[in-house]
Parts: sequence; C-alpha cells; structure tokens
Amino acid sequence: TQHAERQRVLDTLRLSREQLLEVKRRLTEEMARGLSKQTHDQTSVKMLPTYVRSTPDGTVEQGDFLALDLGGSSFRVLLVRLKNEKKQKVDMHQKIYSIDQDTLQGTGEELFNHIVYCIADFLDYRGMSGASLPLGFTFSFPCDQTKLNEGILLKWTKGFKASGCEGKDVVKLLKEAVQRKQKFDLSFVAVVNDTVGTMMTCAYQDPKCELGLIVAGTGTNACYMEEMHNIETVEGNEGRMCVNVEWGAFGENGELDDFCTEFDYAVDEASNYPGKQRRYEKMISGMYLGEIVRHVLMDFTTKGLLFRGKLSERLKTRGIFETKFLSQIESDRLAMRQVRSILQHLGLTGSTCDDSVLVKEVCSVVGRRAAQLCGAGLAALVDKIRQNRNLNQMSITVGVDGTLYKTHPHFSRIMQETLQDLAPQCEVTFLKSEDGSGKGAALITAVACRLKSEQS
Ligand code: BG6
Ligand code: GLC
Repeated sequence: TQHAERQRVLDTLRLSREQLLEVKRRLTEEMARGLSKQTHDQTSVKMLPTYVRSTPDGTVEQGDFLALDLGGSSFRVLLVRLKNEKKQKVDMHQKIYSIDQDTLQGTGEELFNHIVYCIADFLDYRGMSGASLPLGFTFSFPCDQTKLNEGILLKWTKGFKASGCEGKDVVKLLKEAVQRKQKFDLSFVAVVNDTVGTMMTCAYQDPKCELGLIVAGTGTNACYMEEMHNIETVEGNEGRMCVNVEWGAFGENGELDDFCTEFDYAVDEASNYPGKQRRYEKMISGMYLGEIVRHVLMDFTTKGLLFRGKLSERLKTRGIFETKFLSQIESDRLAMRQVRSILQHLGLTGSTCDDSVLVKEVCSVVGRRAAQLCGAGLAALVDKIRQNRNLNQMSITVGVDGTLYKTHPHFSRIMQETLQDLAPQCEVTFLKSEDGSGKGAALITAVACRLKSEQS
C-alpha cells in the first residue's frame, strides 16, 4: 500500500538506540584521535585548542571592549562595558550589520574592509570615533590557534567563501584592514569560536557551565573544558583548556556513511562542499534539514505518493524550507489547515489535507534524527569529561545558542532525552544564552588584557 511504501522510506531516516550508541562511540574515538599528536592530522574532528584556560572565576574585570560576532545568522558589532562592581555588571550595546553576497564571495580584503567599515561606523554612532580598544572577535569557523590573539583559518564553512583567507591569520587580516582605513585602532584582538563565547557568556551566570553548544541555522558545534595533560598538541600539563571540537566535520572519514540515506547523499551533492565533507553538520543544522525534507518530498511526489504526483518547479528549488518553516510546521499548536497554508506560502499549492499530514511527518522524522544525533554527540562529550574527572556521577551545565535549538518546538526535548538515555551517569542542565557570544568574547579579552598588564 501507499502507506507502507511511505513508511519504508521514512524508516531509513529512523535511528535505533544501538545506532545512536555507535555514533557516540565513534565520536568518542575520533575525539581521542583529535587530541593525540600522532593521529591529529588524519582525524575528522579537529579538537582545536582555544587558549582559554578557565571559565570566569569571580574576578571582576573592568573596562570597555569591542566585540565582533561573525559567522552566525547576523553580523554584529558590540560595545561591552565591564564595571568594577562587586557582582560584575555588564552593559552592552550592539548594532547588526548586513554583509551582502558579493562581499561574502569576493576577496578577503573586501570582506575585512567591510568589517572595519562597520566598526568605524559603530564607533561614530557611539560617539567614540578614533578610539583604541581591545576587541573580542567571535569568528565562528575552524581556526588553528597557538595563542589567543592569533587564529589561522583552516577552511571556510557555511556559505562563506571570501578568497585569500584560508591558511591566514584572521587577526592579521583584521589589523591590516584597520591600518588601511586609519580611523581607529585595536590594542588587542582575541579570536574566539562562537561555542566558546557562548560557554563563557553562560558560565558567567552558572559556574557549572563547562560546555558550549551551537545548533544553528547553518552550523553545529561544541566546545568543553579539557584537561591540559590530555591535549597533546599543546605544551604543558597543568590545569585545563577549552577545546573547540569542530564536530560539524565528524563523518568526513566515512564514520557516518552507514547511517546516511539516499537523501543525505542528494543534499550533499548539491551543497557548497560536496563529497564526504561535514556529514554530521549536514544531518543536524537547520539549512540542511530543510533540504533533506525537500528531497524526501520530491521522492514521494515522483512516486505519486504526494501532491497528486505533480512535481512543481517550486519543490525543485533549493533552500525553500528555511529553519523557521520547519519549526512552524512542527509546532503542536498548528492545525493541519495552518500547515497547509504554510505550504501554500512556500509556493507548494494544490496540497490536500493528507499531504499536509505527510509533510509534517517527514519534518518530524528528519528533525528527530537530527536531535538524536546531536544528543548522541553530547553524550560522548559529557561522558568524556566525567571520565577525565574520575567521577561516577557528574552534574554539568551546557550553555547553548542557535536558531534551530531556540525555535524548534521539539529539538531540545528529544536531544535531552537521547542524552540522558546514552549518558545516564551525567545530570545535564541546559542554559540558553540570551546575550549572544559577544559578551563571553569580551570577558575572555578582558582577562587576557589584565594578565598581560600584570606581567609587564
Ligand atoms: C548567536 C551567537 O547568538 O548565535 C553567535 O552570538 C552564533 O556567535 C549564533 O554564531 C548561532 O546561531 P544562528 O542560528 O543565529 O546562526
Ligand atoms: C561551523 C563552524 C564552527 C561553528 C559552527 C556553529 O560548524 O565550522 O566553527 O562553531 O559552524 O556556528
């Protein structure tokens, strides 16, 4: 029957508990390989040292700091004022700027000129033209760091393409653009991944926050506090350092191939980086989920199981299912009639009521798989931290941000259920970051500037 045929297809997108445990196991293995000097170069999961040595320890920082937030769904410039008061007070002012497609895909020089133009505009707007301030640069891409104020871009991810940046230090690229413009100066620049900024923003509220998670429209990633003696790629054995896992790339060595469906392969083929790249991210983040859904719907339509078998041009269009539509379609408060009107709004006209039920089911199966995969990844992380500390039971807080996590009606619940099931010895609390990663980046910068002046 038609029903059985649809379920047979959807079953390929359903993961069993054993498969999820296997995902956890393989990620654990890749993480260990990423930390080891010998295997670091071959592993898909890079485990990048961040040179952030602790979460906020109660020391009150002070001063004015700039922050940039580049790589999320909006580009922001911020002024973060840390006040010398007992319970650290933070004032934040921000402005969102747009970056057009041409700039994203042009040269690195153009991109950084634009960034510097936005900072100058922001300083004017705040009445601070000509200032010389330290800056926390949230740069949400994989960077090799040998210190806090340097970050060699390994490769662009998520739609960014500006030429001449890969393999270069982004602090240098930024400072060169500042010099070209000669409008203001930056006294110090710390490079911070968005996961790290988010962890710090949240740790400030809850000292048990030692893990940062991003589940966004375009990417997914995590960071956590690792023991120095486990990070073979960095000298020294004392204390801890935050590690940027870069788990979006998990699967690049084929580790997830046996869980991928024909739809995952189709989405991958049409993506910005086709091949085996960034499998995990392509099964979790919003933009790809929308594409997986669209490919399933195309398959159903071609088989005559949906939209009366009529494959419209609209359904063949890449990117029509934005994250917000996935979240809307899955909302429990919506009647089927409303799902149908969303489909109409998307240009998928002529759908029947049964069609709406089926579309909703496809969204829910694809969304559930993403949340479960993310939960399995987190299970690997928290159990690693627990084992590092030789604990039988551990409680920890995860600071989290990203549009998919924040807007999807079921993602967080399913992710947490999976996590609890796969890492029962950890009691995990989730703290949503309301302030973005800029605040955390400014705090990191403040600590670095204080230590620098104490040393000199
Ligand atoms: C923001 C953070 O709030 O969330 C960014 O400040 C981060 O640094 C972003 O990249 C991720 O979510 P999205 O979905 O807005 O890209
Ligand atoms: C991509 C980037 C990573 C970032 C994540 C979330 O995976 O490579 O650095 O943290 O997206 O924005």
